[in-house]
Amino acid sequence: MIERSRNIVISLVFFVSVSHTAQPSAPAPIAAPLRELPWGQLNFLHTTDTHGWHGGHLQEPSFSADWGDYISFAKHLRDRADLDGSDILLIDTGDRVEGNGLYDASEPKGKYTFDIFKEQTIDVICSGNHELYKRNSSENEFNKTVPFFKGNYLSSNIDIYSPVSGVLEPLAPRFKKFTTKNQGIRILAFGFLFDFKGNANNTVVHTVEETVNEKWFKEAILDRDVDLIVVIGHVAIRSKEYDLLYQTIRTVHWDTPIQFFGGHTHIRDYKIYDSKSVAIESGRYMETIGFMAINGLHTPKNDASNAAAELNFARRYIDNNLYSLRYHSRKNESTFTTEHGLQVSRTITKARKALELDRTHGCAPQDFWVNRVPYPSNNSIFTLLENGILPSQLSTATRAAEGHKGLVITNTGALRFDIFRGSFTKDSTFLVSPFTSGFRYIKDVPVQSAKRILELLNNEGPVLSRLPHANDLRSRQLGLPSQMDGLPTFSRSEADNFEHIRGDSQAVLEDDQDLTPGYTTKDDAGTDGDDTIHSSIAFYDIPNCIQAGIGFELTPDGWGSTFSASVYNDEPDVVDVIYNEFIERYILLALEYLGENYEENDTEAYLHGKTLTDIITDWVSVNWPPDDNGSCP
Ligand SMILES: *[C@@H]1O[C@H](CO)[C@@H](O)[C@H](O)[C@H]1NC(C)=O
Ligand SMILES: *[C@@H]1O[C@H](CO)[C@@H](O)[C@H](O)[C@H]1NC(C)=O
Ligand SMILES: *[C@@H]1O[C@H](CO)[C@@H](O)[C@H](O)[C@H]1NC(C)=O
Ligand SMILES: *[C@@H]1O[C@H](CO)[C@@H](O)[C@H](O)[C@H]1NC(C)=O
Ligand SMILES: *[C@@H]1O[C@H](CO)[C@@H](O)[C@H](O)[C@H]1NC(C)=O
Ligand SMILES: *[C@@H]1O[C@H](CO)[C@@H](O)[C@H](O)[C@H]1NC(C)=O
Ligand SMILES: *[C@@H]1O[C@H](CO)[C@@H](O)[C@H](O)[C@H]1NC(C)=O
Repeated sequence: MIERSRNIVISLVFFVSVSHTAQPSAPAPIAAPLRELPWGQLNFLHTTDTHGWHGGHLQEPSFSADWGDYISFAKHLRDRADLDGSDILLIDTGDRVEGNGLYDASEPKGKYTFDIFKEQTIDVICSGNHELYKRNSSENEFNKTVPFFKGNYLSSNIDIYSPVSGVLEPLAPRFKKFTTKNQGIRILAFGFLFDFKGNANNTVVHTVEETVNEKWFKEAILDRDVDLIVVIGHVAIRSKEYDLLYQTIRTVHWDTPIQFFGGHTHIRDYKIYDSKSVAIESGRYMETIGFMAINGLHTPKNDASNAAAELNFARRYIDNNLYSLRYHSRKNESTFTTEHGLQVSRTITKARKALELDRTHGCAPQDFWVNRVPYPSNNSIFTLLENGILPSQLSTATRAAEGHKGLVITNTGALRFDIFRGSFTKDSTFLVSPFTSGFRYIKDVPVQSAKRILELLNNEGPVLSRLPHANDLRSRQLGLPSQMDGLPTFSRSEADNFEHIRGDSQAVLEDDQDLTPGYTTKDDAGTDGDDTIHSSIAFYDIPNCIQAGIGFELTPDGWGSTFSASVYNDEPDVVDVIYNEFIERYILLALEYLGENYEENDTEAYLHGKTLTDIITDWVSVNWPPDDNGSCP
């Protein structure tokens, strides 16, 4: 209560107009009670795992600001720092690529995003795992992003075979030391990637354990003329990699403040290592701008005046919308947008136009959720898939038309984002189902075995325990089979950010009914981290995989605690087992466990290798057609 009266401003201003600088089709932000930024001596803004969402979220008002707005925002905070003599630094911890049409829809991919991204001044930046999956995407880092952010791009544990010389060299400098502009804080900074193994062979990722034993690292941390150590990384803040870095640095610097910035698991989180060391992780997809403030840092310049000040850290997770950004920068509708920010927003608009991302394929009659509703249910995206989309689209395959019945199985992680009521655009296809793997099948599998595959894939049983990263079946990350190493188990950690339906519940604010649903983060510092006060969202467990019958009916008897098998009507003796290629090795392993031995060479493309994305798009165009003008009511 005290907390609220001191730190929370409930604004009476409502934005009734749609005048804003975000993308033209973005929804206006919704006024909401906000917590102030805990501005300090040294401040940070942190983005991570933006995955191409630099145009913002065009169907969610809470996250509808774009990269141009972030540029305006940062400018105002830099001005504030210059005025009051504090400092502000910007951080980005990787996975800037893959996951949004703005990046994925162009040929080559990222044709527009590199030039958009580089418009922001970023003080310390590093690579994620997604930058390294493909040879050409890591070369883009080497050719473009590293030079754009010259000296600020750090690569403590990644090497690349230079596309120019062919020689293995650090992707970027291993570390840097710099002094802040106004306070004169001497900072030693590193930039890491977690122990990732799925990279293309033109890069080499050294494990953190190897790296802390390297000569350059040992020497770097011997520097005593340092007021703060900043470790940024595409690394989960609760990970063996960061634990090791923390311990190693503490053996040399027993009480130098250490600030970690992390990413990769797509959550909002804050970890307290000790009274002088903390870590923040700032979500995903441009939903969140992380804010950190540190007070009480000793520097050569201010040591006398600051000697008594006690070191403290404070964090805030900013919802990336214009309402929050204007409020925190003390600007209004007419003073917020800078010329530079406006230019970048316009560049994004032009790129989206060139890529035709707003082209409407169909009109969704309602929302379909990934895990905000129970499965099965009428507004579950998986129920839509198994009762509607899959049976209808796959039955057009030649095999099905010839009368061969089929059982199609897909992992729930193949659907990465919700479908919102209204326009289903080209952009939506990349958000909902970005995978490029096609459907394959094994012909004439005995039905007694085929019907048990789902049960094996959904129980955390013998099949899954033989495969590393089995949770990836449910994980809404991008990837191909060869890329599964190191992908996070995202659905769980995402849910940890919210009130999990089977977890403990958070105290409900009295005026809950006035709040919009959104992030209600719990972390090591409590429940007051989010800038916007939201009502909590319930998240439901979903199975790893779902299935549908092609040419015959399935009656699911519920997935319950065992994700059990199904009862079949009109059961054939043999069925084609159809699956998306992503899960091929799981399917083969499950069949082997059931005594059916199939090899890769027993599999063939189904529906000419159409992808789930194609199938959904085709179904949407036919079943939810837009009006004659290609728009939605
Ligand atoms: C990499 O090359 C492939 C094949 O030429 C192309 O489709 C893709 O767009 C390229 N990706 C990038 C990041 O350049
Ligand atoms: C990067 O630059 C090198 C040298 O100019 C070039 O050979 C290579 O194709 C470039 N890579 C990409 C992905 O554009
Ligand atoms: C990477 O793999 C390609 C083909 O898969 C091979 O031609 C090349 O020599 C490999 N490069 C390195 C550096 O191992
Ligand atoms: C925005 O702020 C400026 C400067 O404080 C003020 O002159 C202007 O009237 C404000 N505009 C709106 C729409 O509130
Ligand atoms: C789901 O939709 C079906 C068919 O439209 C309807 O009969 C059923 O009542 C709905 N169930 C729920 C829980 O809304
Ligand atoms: C399929 O592959 C297996 C092992 O990889 C091999 O033993 C078998 O001969 C192959 N079958 C055909 C028909 O090529
Ligand atoms: C399509 O656009 C035309 C011209 O703007 C308009 O007259 C017509 O009513 C629109 N049709 C529909 C179905 O909205």
